[in-house]
Amino acid sequence: NKHALGIDIGGTQVKMGIVDARGQLLGRIEHPTPQKEGAEAALLEIASVAKQLATEANIPWKDIAGVGVGLPGFLDIPQGHIVQLPNLSWNDVPIRKILEKALALPVTIDNDANVAALGEAWSGAGVGVKDLICITLGTGVGGGIIANGGLVHGSTGMAGEIGHIPVKQDGALCGCGRHGCLETIASATGVMRLMQEAIARGEQTILHHDESDPLTTEKIFSAAKDKDPVAQEVVQQAVDALAYVMSILSLTFNPALFVIGGGVSKAGSTLFEPLEAAYHRRTLSYVAKGVLIRPALLGNDAGLIGAAGLTAKGEILR
Ligand code: BGC
Ligand code: NA
Ligand code: ZN
Repeated sequence: NKHALGIDIGGTQVKMGIVDARGQLLGRIEHPTPQKEGAEAALLEIASVAKQLATEANIPWKDIAGVGVGLPGFLDIPQGHIVQLPNLSWNDVPIRKILEKALALPVTIDNDANVAALGEAWSGAGVGVKDLICITLGTGVGGGIIANGGLVHGSTGMAGEIGHIPVKQDGALCGCGRHGCLETIASATGVMRLMQEAIARGEQTILHHDESDPLTTEKIFSAAKDKDPVAQEVVQQAVDALAYVMSILSLTFNPALFVIGGGVSKAGSTLFEPLEAAYHRRTLSYVAKGVLIRPALLGNDAGLIGAAGLTAKGEILR
């Protein structure tokens, strides 16, 4: 009964963990995403942190059967290749080859939100649910779709790329190169941009943005909770865009559950109350009836646990 190593590579943090055959976390570590040196050097740094984790958790390397990696963007999954990461400038990277050499273990890759969905279905908020959609709100907006008990990849692995659903004509430029994607409004980056624009327009808010005291999404949500009208308006814009996309997803996949993860989901009821209201206002009642909208139970560990689960080759949801 071997363990698996899960690595969740995000725009700002790399989270990794060693997980047993039931999806229980035996040890975890976080490391800032290496930004400057290029993808190969960054991956070698990540590989050495992985070995450090095994040492610290007292797990012999030979007890690890394989490695699963979640990545924030467009991938050629069968080839183990990164095509493009909208929020990290790694393009065209043979990641499986690099990591298999550095770690001497078989490596499987998948999209970060897909593995978050897998983690939640395996040992989180979605245990026993055959149709669920996980949405991650972080640097970008990710989606992972589990339909009829299996992860949906589509013809080229792009199924679930809901962050790039266009929701606003001629909207802000997105990391993918297009304009007005959901991600430009409902991600942490999007919420920050909307707030900064409102401040720059001189709208009356308790928030400000300067180098010594920079704006954060936590501050925006807490101001919204304290009824700051500008912060409330920014949160409402994000919520409306997200609810619109969730209504499309409901009519396409008819999930029983939406799991919302990523840093922004930590806002709690300030996010979930208006989101639930907007979703039910916007969505055909017969399809929305009984649908649950829940925070990721595994919190920030959903991705790394699901990534570890990739090594089980789809067996974990059976
Ligand atoms: C990427 C997705 C990713 C999401 C969250 C988006 O920009 O296109 O692949 O899941 O960000 O990281
Ligand atoms: Na996805
Ligand atoms: Zn986009």
